[in-house]
Amino acid sequence: MSEEVLRRALQPHLDRLLTSREHPKTICPSEVARALNTANLQEADIQSWRDAMPEIRKMVAEMRARGEVEVLQKGSVLEGDLGESLELVVGPIRVRRIHLFEKLFAIQSPQYLQAVVVKIVLSHDNMEIGVFIPIGNNGWLISDNSPTYKPSFELNKRIVQKAESYGMDFALSMIKLRGFGGRTEHWDYNLESFTLMAGLAAVTSKIKLFASTAILTLPPALCARMAVTIDSIAPGRFGVNIVTGWQPAEYEQMSIWPGNEYFGYRYDYAQEYVQVMKELWSSGESNFKGKHFTMNDCKLLPKPSSPIKIIAAGQSPRGTKFAAEYADYNFCGASGHNNPQSFEKGNLALVEEAKITGRDVGAMVLFMIIAYETDDEAWAKWDWYSEGVDLDATSWVAKQATKDTKAASTSTASRISRADNPVNLNGGALIGSYANVAGLLDQAAEVAGTKGIMLIFDNFLIGLDNFGKRIQPLMKSRAHIRTNGSS
Ligand SMILES: Cc1cc2nc3c(=O)[nH]c(=O)nc-3n(C[C@H](O)[C@H](O)[C@H](O)COP(=O)(O)O)c2cc1C
Repeated sequence: MSEEVLRRALQPHLDRLLTSREHPKTICPSEVARALNTANLQEADIQSWRDAMPEIRKMVAEMRARGEVEVLQKGSVLEGDLGESLELVVGPIRVRRIHLFEKLFAIQSPQYLQAVVVKIVLSHDNMEIGVFIPIGNNGWLISDNSPTYKPSFELNKRIVQKAESYGMDFALSMIKLRGFGGRTEHWDYNLESFTLMAGLAAVTSKIKLFASTAILTLPPALCARMAVTIDSIAPGRFGVNIVTGWQPAEYEQMSIWPGNEYFGYRYDYAQEYVQVMKELWSSGESNFKGKHFTMNDCKLLPKPSSPIKIIAAGQSPRGTKFAAEYADYNFCGASGHNNPQSFEKGNLALVEEAKITGRDVGAMVLFMIIAYETDDEAWAKWDWYSEGVDLDATSWVAKQATKDTKAASTSTASRISRADNPVNLNGGALIGSYANVAGLLDQAAEVAGTKGIMLIFDNFLIGLDNFGKRIQPLMKSRAHIRTNGSS
């Protein structure tokens, strides 16, 4: 019997039955087993639904340990240790989802109350998953040995439609205005973020889309209008990633680099920029008077169909503060290999800053996924990619990154200028079998403050299929997703 295959078949039935039965009604675990069809039984290599019962009890025990369900006998909720697979309970059981409000009212202890509230706030259930789409050539691997491709609307359309079909929550494109050269011509081919997302908005229906604005290039009133335009193509699905900039070469080539003192005030500039956009979106006009932007009866209609979300990607303390004040999400960079909680400090800093502003700001974490059938296969791929690293391109960009004189040790520029894993610009990578990568992603979801994870793949089309079919179904933090299969 394959435990993994059986679980994958059982999980959707368990979730569906628990969700469909309103509190205080319960389900019998055998209902879950009976929902298996003949193909499920064959795939899991079991004879009858009865053979699935031990696995279901184990799954229920795990959900109970996470505080998601309660187990009952003769109408009473069982308390205390019931064993890892409920083996300490004799006789038939019933199960139901925990009804949070009843639980809150029944509780007297303030500490417990606080713990429950913290769990609600930091809950990793319903964790969002997105894809960082390859708007630049060859994605995020700078190697002669990794898949090579040019960015195109067609490729990104297939990627985003696939992500949508697997229930992924969002897709984001970066803005890069100058590539790194080298043999691989890394990122020398780059599309523009807003126009790409506008096209993608027209060919998708559910997935949220984020474009990046390089704030030195686009006036805020124009950016706000572009966002409203995309919102009219994809109502309620569009948001803006605020890019302050760390690489002067992108801007010097157009003679729009304000000088290196910009590094010191880029977030002051960004905060005025976002305030102007928010005023225009909410009231249709702005008379903002700041140090960097002055609006004179500036008008913007129509207003967006719903508030446009703001993403920030600052890793420095100043960047984190900006996110807590003005953004809905902030990207927290991960590092190393199979180190799924490496971004914990960044999350904590964001949680602390958000406490001060009292705003709901979630951390989005970025990981590259190298997942194959076995750990050995995945590591062999990673080693092969690393061996082919294009050092001309990576050393060029590392030198560029050192120009960011105000970079904190946590900043993106500092990460890029390090030499440890240049092949993916020292970003965090999760490498291994599908099951191990699913477990690592769940561990990342458990870090307090994590709202979502954004994924990069070595081969996006194949990687997304493997994620949708092999990884996501094993993830506890994505148990709420019903995958439909991909086109
Ligand atoms: C997930 C993620 C996405 C980013 N996207 C872009 C981008 O599209 N273009 C860019 O120039 N910088 C990008 N950055 C860099 C940041 O926008 C930020 O401007 C820069 O790192 C300076 O801030 P910091 O010193 O606070 O990190 C990104 C960073 C992260 C972590």
